[in-house]
Amino acid sequence: MKRIGVFTSGGDAPGMNACIRAVVRAGIYYGLEVIGIGHGYQGMINGEFIPLQARSVSNILQRGGTILKTARSEEFMTKEGRAKAAKNLKEQGIEALVAIGGDGTFRGAVALYEEHGIPSVGIPATIDNDLYGTDYTIGYDTAVNTALESIDKIRDTADAHDRLFYVEVMGRTSGFIAVEAGIGGGAEYIAIPEEQTDYEEIKNVLKGFRKDKTSSIIIVAEGDEEGGAFKIAKKVKELYGFDYRVVVLGHIQRGGSPSARDRILASKLGVAAVEALISGKFNVMVGEVKGEIKLTPLKETFGRRKELDPYLLKIAKILSI
Ligand code: F6P
Repeated sequence: MKRIGVFTSGGDAPGMNACIRAVVRAGIYYGLEVIGIGHGYQGMINGEFIPLQARSVSNILQRGGTILKTARSEEFMTKEGRAKAAKNLKEQGIEALVAIGGDGTFRGAVALYEEHGIPSVGIPATIDNDLYGTDYTIGYDTAVNTALESIDKIRDTADAHDRLFYVEVMGRTSGFIAVEAGIGGGAEYIAIPEEQTDYEEIKNVLKGFRKDKTSSIIIVAEGDEEGGAFKIAKKVKELYGFDYRVVVLGHIQRGGSPSARDRILASKLGVAAVEALISGKFNVMVGEVKGEIKLTPLKETFGRRKELDPYLLKIAKILSI
């Protein structure tokens, strides 16, 4: 193999740049030419191909976002779009891809292989941490820390006013960010898609707020089945009369300089992806499980559900009294 392509796709995540850097430098180290593809799958269709050298990725390790840009391409969802992308890749002499992103990115990589024989190795990068086959995804640690910084600030104002706040965090259909930000921020209750929202329990934890707590924070994962923080807050008010404020953290969680953990994970997985490619291991995601690099078939990464740690759920309840 002589030439590989690298791209980022889907929602950006802090650490994507560190990962691009690692793929480019590992590729060059192992004697490959590395072509960056702008705007993910849309860039494959539009022909955004940028040859990358070791110095092209200088000074990006610490930057949020992605120098290659990203997109959620509607056109690539069509057979015609994928055919156009595959034709352009072949014309560029790109023999294999390193796909940095989440489940949508990996679904696209599987389709490119099945329909056009272009192989990929995936690298998990999404703040949601919702991919099977890796303990953590690139960007998750930074997103949790960003959420925590905001929660700490909200705690100050909540305490000053003796108020109840609902803080909505991202995570799509999973509660990973909510659980860790909730435990780290001392939440009174954490509403997540993996568990039915328990209004009786909310009533019980808020009893402490009526009695002697000077602030209460309920963390709500955006994918919670009740439909988000505003809905839960309204229902609790109707049921038990608690006044409230709601803060939706939103895309703040996607930005910022990656944490040390994310930079290191991105560096490790970037090199591991190139090593997988050159040893002929395709259509797998490189992940880290219990500190070891692990390869998981791309289809399993989104086909199987990664479970939340039940011990974390338990301690969140114990500590909220
Ligand atoms: O997957 C990352 C993520 O930030 C999710 O947490 C969120 O639901 C979604 O992307 C938002 O997507 P967009 O930026 O396209 O609105």
